[in-house]
Amino acid sequence: MRMYDIIAKKRDGGELTYDELEFFVKGTLGAVPDYQLTALLMAICIRGMTERETSDLTLLMANSGDVMDLSKIEGATVDKHSTGGVGDKTTLIAGPIAAACGVKVAKMSGRALGHTGGTIDKLESIPGFRTSLDNSEFFDIVNRVGICVVGQTANLAPADKKLYSLRDVTATVESIPLIASSVMSKKLAAGSSGILLDVKVGSGAFMKTREAAVALAEQMVAIGKTAGRRTAALITNMDIPLGRAIGNSLEVIEAVETLSGKGPKDITDLCLELAANMLYLSLPEHITLTECRRRTSEALDSGAALKKLEEMAAAQGGDISCLKDTSKFPAAAETGEYTAASEGYITSIDAEGCGIAASLLGAGREKAGEPIDHAAGIVLLKKPGEYVKRGEPLAMLYASDQIKLVQGLARLDKCYNISAIKPSLPELIIASV
Ligand code: URA
Repeated sequence: MRMYDIIAKKRDGGELTYDELEFFVKGTLGAVPDYQLTALLMAICIRGMTERETSDLTLLMANSGDVMDLSKIEGATVDKHSTGGVGDKTTLIAGPIAAACGVKVAKMSGRALGHTGGTIDKLESIPGFRTSLDNSEFFDIVNRVGICVVGQTANLAPADKKLYSLRDVTATVESIPLIASSVMSKKLAAGSSGILLDVKVGSGAFMKTREAAVALAEQMVAIGKTAGRRTAALITNMDIPLGRAIGNSLEVIEAVETLSGKGPKDITDLCLELAANMLYLSLPEHITLTECRRRTSEALDSGAALKKLEEMAAAQGGDISCLKDTSKFPAAAETGEYTAASEGYITSIDAEGCGIAASLLGAGREKAGEPIDHAAGIVLLKKPGEYVKRGEPLAMLYASDQIKLVQGLARLDKCYNISAIKPSLPELIIASV
């Protein structure tokens, strides 16, 4: 078999066989040069893939490295994945709610990159919190507490790691079969029996239209089901940041507030719906989603979910005095206020721009491995639909020095739109698949 012939076949719109896809995926580990891998990625991007090709590619990538065996965990395991958003701290809230209802959440998460945050960096803002555990400690915490969140092992779906790094620099990220196979290869390798996908749509997401988001969700759900996992997806809005906090410790603080019943409505509603769907995927099918919603609301209202977050943090070495009194989180050296330049209704806040502004403040990183400032970020004091007076504070910014603060302020200034006309706000939960 020759890589040249596989590229030519896809270039001409052909359907690749399992053996051809296997040759390609095995080739990512060294035998095939980057220029040929990239040529095939571009051909796939333009020609697309059939459902069978996408499913084969996903399974081959999932099996290209370590595959987690979660059989030592008692009870149904459910994973949740968001396709990436700004201010998305849902794992820190929906995870503990679901765990408080009996779901086993054995989760591997990623780090911040570009304009999107990462759950691992958020958790590491809790002093002492360990995200690198061996499997026996990971399984033990999931069995004892119900939830444990760790960093992805280096060898999880290495074929995807290689292909994603090539896609990132060759304008081939925006392909539904490539995104679906990339996300699902990692979810399948991570081993949970249930998979809930939160597919973001809007200006701050990969998927800019509802149609594209539904198509991606349908492909991922089909792959999950073919692989024998109970899989579902919610399509949710990412035109504006979720909640008010963007940045690592700021988002943990907002998660604690939300689990205390004092969080913003958007994040509370979304996390309750995510947790209810996670619970649904863990239970026999005759138990309805309505009953799951009742149980997850009770776990939030009773404080059981907040207790779960504290138990998880304690089990992973975190200083839970910071969660009990969030003023104990290390503070940023510099703070600044962003104020309204005119009077009127806030009509929109560009989510991606806010993510970039938070990154400039020090909350994110441009390249993998760069250090991060856990205290840096933004708290949005006003969000779309609210009326503001000229000079009124719209956001608080946090950074380690004045230069970063000025850069973050300048970027945030491009994100807010204010108008005399009251906007109609988009639905947060748009559809489910
Ligand atoms: N996230 C992934 O893991 N893969 C993609 O292709 C896009 C987003």
